[in-house]
Amino acid sequence: MYSNQTLTEKSKKAGRHFSGWLLISLLLGYVGSAIAGEHHHFIPGETRTGAYIFHNYCSVCHGDRGDGQSRAKDGLDPPPRNYTTPESAIELTRERMIHSVTNGRPGTAMIAWGSELSAAEIENVVDYVRKTFMKLGNNSAAHTVPDSKLLASRGGVLYMQSCAMCHGETGARDTTGRMQPPPRDFTSPAVIAELTRKRMIASITDGRPGTAMMGYGSQLSQGDIEAIVDFIQSAFMSGSTPKQ
Ligand code: HEC
Ligand code: HEC
Repeated sequence: MYSNQTLTEKSKKAGRHFSGWLLISLLLGYVGSAIAGEHHHFIPGETRTGAYIFHNYCSVCHGDRGDGQSRAKDGLDPPPRNYTTPESAIELTRERMIHSVTNGRPGTAMIAWGSELSAAEIENVVDYVRKTFMKLGNNSAAHTVPDSKLLASRGGVLYMQSCAMCHGETGARDTTGRMQPPPRDFTSPAVIAELTRKRMIASITDGRPGTAMMGYGSQLSQGDIEAIVDFIQSAFMSGSTPKQ
């Protein structure tokens, strides 16, 4: 797959990124087993799990909890990515992560892993990080698509037509794209506590200035807007008392 020439170049590059930090690590005496330099080339036919790869190759910088809180972080500028922030959930699409892990991030300690890990292993570790650490609305098993009766209601049909592309079919928002702020996650307890029925109607009618949430007051009747709010409350916010 890689010529010897490319491999040597890659190792040299990795060596440069690491040298300063490795020196500090050595001084402090905590060089993890999985740092570059120890080149475990993947064995064809053997595909290691995402959990194995993460805890052997990645946690040394990204932290055991994926929050970037590792001992290595102080020596690194930019610091290792904290996967648990809302920004990471929005910015880091699966595709981008696979690309960054394969090719590295030039000028940072995030080296290319394309010669250490097979394509399948890179997908495994990316999926492990996404599932374990990233706060991705739609990915959570706790969120389910509303039942068919609710979906068939007037509010359900309108929601799926006009709102689901941002807020998600499960109300826990669709995290692809780069919206800042992100769409509200209707299933989050903090959001449920904040969003009164009155406030939702006002926000849907007039929009939220400076955000991707536009006003629907000129497209939808007051009755339609109330029907959507009924749907959001019963489909996504149930379990808590609907706010008046
Ligand atoms: C030597 C420290 C180090 C190790 C080991 C390391 N990373 Fe990183 N990683 C970083 C740093 C630093 C960044 C931030 C780079 C930036 O800001 O562009 C980063 C960023 C990332 C990103 C986000 C990239 C983007 O597109 O913004 C992903 C995903 C990632 N790392 C995954 C991994 C995985 C998976 C492994 C293990 C196979 C790993 N990292 C190992 C230091 C490390
Ligand atoms: C283009 C993406 C997008 C679409 C489409 C969209 N929203 Fe939003 N929505 C957002 C974003 C982004 C926010 C967060 C705004 C903020 O933080 O102030 C938001 C916030 C909200 C809020 C909370 C507002 C508040 O007061 O905090 C409600 C309620 C809402 N949307 C309902 C809807 C409904 C109902 C529809 C369909 C009729 C819809 N949204 C369509 C992106 C979208």
